[in-house]
Amino acid sequence: MKTLCLPAEDPASAKAAAQIIRRGGLVAIPTETVYGLGANGLDEAAVAKIFQAKGRPQDNPLILHVSEAKEIEKFCHSIPPAAYALAEAFWPGPLTMVLPARDIVPRRTTAGLSTVAVRCPDSAVTRQIIRLAGVPIAAPSANLSGKPSTTTAAHVLHDHDGKIDAVVDGGPCRVGVESTIVDLTEDRPRLLRPGGITPEQLIAILGMLEVDKAVTAPVDHDAVVKAPGMKYRHYAPAEPVVIVSGSRQKAAAYIHRHFVPGDRVLCFEEELPLYQDCAPLAYGREADVASLSAGLFAALRVLDDPAIHQVYARCPEGGGVAYAVQNRLRKAAAFHIVDGEVEE
Ligand code: TXA
Ligand code: MG
Repeated sequence: MKTLCLPAEDPASAKAAAQIIRRGGLVAIPTETVYGLGANGLDEAAVAKIFQAKGRPQDNPLILHVSEAKEIEKFCHSIPPAAYALAEAFWPGPLTMVLPARDIVPRRTTAGLSTVAVRCPDSAVTRQIIRLAGVPIAAPSANLSGKPSTTTAAHVLHDHDGKIDAVVDGGPCRVGVESTIVDLTEDRPRLLRPGGITPEQLIAILGMLEVDKAVTAPVDHDAVVKAPGMKYRHYAPAEPVVIVSGSRQKAAAYIHRHFVPGDRVLCFEEELPLYQDCAPLAYGREADVASLSAGLFAALRVLDDPAIHQVYARCPEGGGVAYAVQNRLRKAAAFHIVDGEVEE
């Protein structure tokens, strides 16, 4: 099939995309986080096509995208006051909430769970598509399963050209890492995935927040985890990635001691002069963590090249959005971190 590229600024695009969704087709949609691979979330057959196009494991549920907060009542029940408070504070925006699912949501969308993840994205064209389609859009990140997420329409076409009906081109994604996921189905709210809405922002509304262990440590493939997606190999370029922690100078010394031709260095813009001989690629400025989250996946895609032998990566410290960047880079590195301060 020919994949249509629909510019977000063309008023006809939302209508065309909504029609494809209603007919049971696949449309990649822009959001503020990453591009999603969307289909009618209430149509089992359409949702099955998403799993097939991505090569996604069947036990990994999808996020249902809505155009406004009150729509969640159609798809969720027993909604706690905290959900309304979070929606009021952060929607439209990069926050996904896990809530008890109503029967109208097909089990293929929730991968058999009795809960469903819902999110209202901060993209005017995507909310317009949802409104015009008259159905919620189920959409995982539009990358092929296991590959770095898609933050431009070109990334989507790289992975799916000729295999999906259309991509709506809304330009590069502002946040660049996927939404924060918080589970509200238990006694205490639990962070399942860090993202653009920070733990600090969630705690300001919720008063408290548990952090799921899958956020901070590798998960066994057979483990039962709250967000099934957390157990799969993620965001990973073709070759091994190792994070080198420590001060700028010590990390550079470590990398220079170990670097061999064929390796690459993924660093901050401020560090480029330190790595002139080490094929450096900067993904943003350390002083501007939003630039790091916005640039991370595009950089990991550049590094997804079997000719590269090893990637040495620099990772920002601290909380806020840096916490989400750390989580994605650690997963790309399969939690392989060396301390540049230690002479070895
Ligand atoms: O920013 C985002 O969230 C993007 C854009 C397109 O909205 N979407 C996205 O989808 O990142 P995906 O499929 O790549 O990640 C969804 C994550 C997976 O880890 C999945 O296991 C988890 O959400 N998830 C979905 N439904 C769940 C549920 N009912 N309970 C727990 N985790 C759930
Ligand atoms: Mg994903």
